[in-house]
Amino acid sequence: MRLFLDTADIDEIREINRWGVLSGVTTNPSLVAKEGEEPDLVWKEILETVPGDISLETTEPEADAMYEQGVKLSQMATNAVVKVPMTPDGLAAGKRLVADGIRINVTLVFSPAQAILAAEVGAYIVSPFLGRLDDVGSDGMGMLRAITEIYAVQGYDTNVLAASLRHPMHVVDAAIGGADIATMPHDVFTKLVKHPLTDVGLEKFHADWLTLQSDLKGEA
Ligand code: E4P
Repeated sequence: MRLFLDTADIDEIREINRWGVLSGVTTNPSLVAKEGEEPDLVWKEILETVPGDISLETTEPEADAMYEQGVKLSQMATNAVVKVPMTPDGLAAGKRLVADGIRINVTLVFSPAQAILAAEVGAYIVSPFLGRLDDVGSDGMGMLRAITEIYAVQGYDTNVLAASLRHPMHVVDAAIGGADIATMPHDVFTKLVKHPLTDVGLEKFHADWLTLQSDLKGEA
């Protein structure tokens, strides 16, 4: 399962990119708005920093304008993936973008039925939002498992990207559930690497090493 960061904050992206495990970045209009800068500049920096798939989201609601915007976004870099929403206009624009050879990510997916539509337009990525579904008392992980099962049975090659992840167990369960990609905010990413027993173990190894050094010095 590939790991993506869900952020438009270049410092967060640089920090995690250093670990060597970052395969891509997802952005959305809210995340880009948080940066308070010209969106094109924000996207450009991300596209240049991470060589993997970078999702840039369209904001035009109507199909023709969304298609035009999607074409422009795709031309920013070869690693750009164009996000379109799961709406009739999003599907129509997405279909045209796919016909042009542009990779699309169908976003704001909350049901297996919607995921079937995304696969049928030839999406490169489908983004089911697990956390937001959990927030309204529904079963985000159940939705993800249904989607991966349907895609396997039907032979769809659209990548399932588990989105709106809130904690490390969401990431683990998404991997067990067969997600191709998991995208998560910076705080969830940093929690993946942490374990109290790793810290305790490292401290003990360090202390024992220092003791050995001072014993050897004492013997000399
Ligand atoms: C994915 O592409 C979305 O940007 C994201 O996962 C949404 O997550 P949120 O529900 O935490 O805003």
